[in-house]
Amino acid sequence: PWRMFDTLRRHDPVHWQPEPAPNSGFWAVTRHADIVRVDRDPSTFTSSRFVNLEEVDDDLMAIRRSMLETDGARHQVLRKILQRDFSHRAVAQYEVFLRGLTGRTLDAALAKGRFDFVKEVSADFPINVLARMLDVPESDTQKLIDWGNRIIGNTDPDYADVLLHSEESDRYRDLPFRSPAALEVFAYGRELAAERRGGTGTDLVSKLVNQPPSDGVPLSDTDFDNYFLLLVVAGNETTRHAISHSMLALLRHPDQLDRLRADPSLIPVAVEEFLRWASPVYHFRRTATRDVELGGKQVRAGDKVVLWFASGNRDEDVFADPYAFDVTRSPNDHVTFGKGSPHFCLGNTLARLEIRVMFSELLPRLADIRLTGDVRRVRSNFVNGIKELPVEVTLA
Ligand code: HEM
Repeated sequence: PWRMFDTLRRHDPVHWQPEPAPNSGFWAVTRHADIVRVDRDPSTFTSSRFVNLEEVDDDLMAIRRSMLETDGARHQVLRKILQRDFSHRAVAQYEVFLRGLTGRTLDAALAKGRFDFVKEVSADFPINVLARMLDVPESDTQKLIDWGNRIIGNTDPDYADVLLHSEESDRYRDLPFRSPAALEVFAYGRELAAERRGGTGTDLVSKLVNQPPSDGVPLSDTDFDNYFLLLVVAGNETTRHAISHSMLALLRHPDQLDRLRADPSLIPVAVEEFLRWASPVYHFRRTATRDVELGGKQVRAGDKVVLWFASGNRDEDVFADPYAFDVTRSPNDHVTFGKGSPHFCLGNTLARLEIRVMFSELLPRLADIRLTGDVRRVRSNFVNGIKELPVEVTLA
């Protein structure tokens, strides 16, 4: 999509894209400055009418709403329940665990010599971290991975049991991502909730069920279902794809790989470039609450407004030579996690730590790494995903 984004940014940065009914079209916002303007103004550009391109009416929205689709005071209340668990201080405590997990994952993969980097390294890693935060047994992680694939991969025939936009997917329209896998995630989450209600656990599920929201309005079952599902999917696919894209970028830019190997203290700065380059979430959508001018266009109340984060991350007005992958790029004002939004990614510190730990453990283990076949991508306009990355390594 990159060349198309370049053209739009240059010639029609807030572009009206017509769509067949019932979707009726959307504004494609492709410049960094406009993306930031929309993202930081939730009263004009609300998330409460859904955040991807799907048309969702009020009844459905009531069933499918998570914090991501909630604005205003209630959003703050929901976010606050777990905010501290994702703070710098809380996340830093996972570093030792993460290093152990990364080391084990890498040693097992690298011993094979030739392997699929996605399957052996990036796919399981983020979910194992979440499994720990949710306090679920490692033996359940494969289930969580499969659910994530089926839910986020619902436009990819390799993953989906029910393809989005198929006639069959209408049968599941009251479920998040119209995926039957959501029902299994709900059932699993509710079982955990029942076990932990009234207990003293400090895991995320225990907090959701035992910590009363600060506005005194308890979480309904639906609130819990959607919160739990959001945690399972938001931190899984995204981080996986960020790690796979970072590896691919290093494979395609061996000079940058050499630079990092020569000076590992560059890794934290490189992580920001990895995130800009990867843009694992292509877009999120807002809905205009009033008539408003945006980039010289007249947006009407009710119009869909789509923030193409991936395009913002290649905006030449913000990034000098945006198609150069430069692990020392600084400043690096990417919009990979959103920008200035109350919905700014709750897991950003955790994701950054996971990627930093992954590459600081991986690089010293490698004498060489090469691509050995075709890279296969996830079919989606929502996640920028890689599903196969065949590599061969020589150990240091
Ligand atoms: C929200 C991207 C990792 C949990 C978001 C948003 C984006 C995003 C773009 C919406 C921002 C906006 O609307 O302005 C990513 C990327 C990740 C990542 C690219 C990995 C590289 C994680 C992780 C978690 C997580 C590890 C942990 C569970 C969430 C949650 C929200 C969110 C709960 C909703 C926040 C809210 O509505 O207030 N993420 N994310 N994400 N992310 Fe992430």
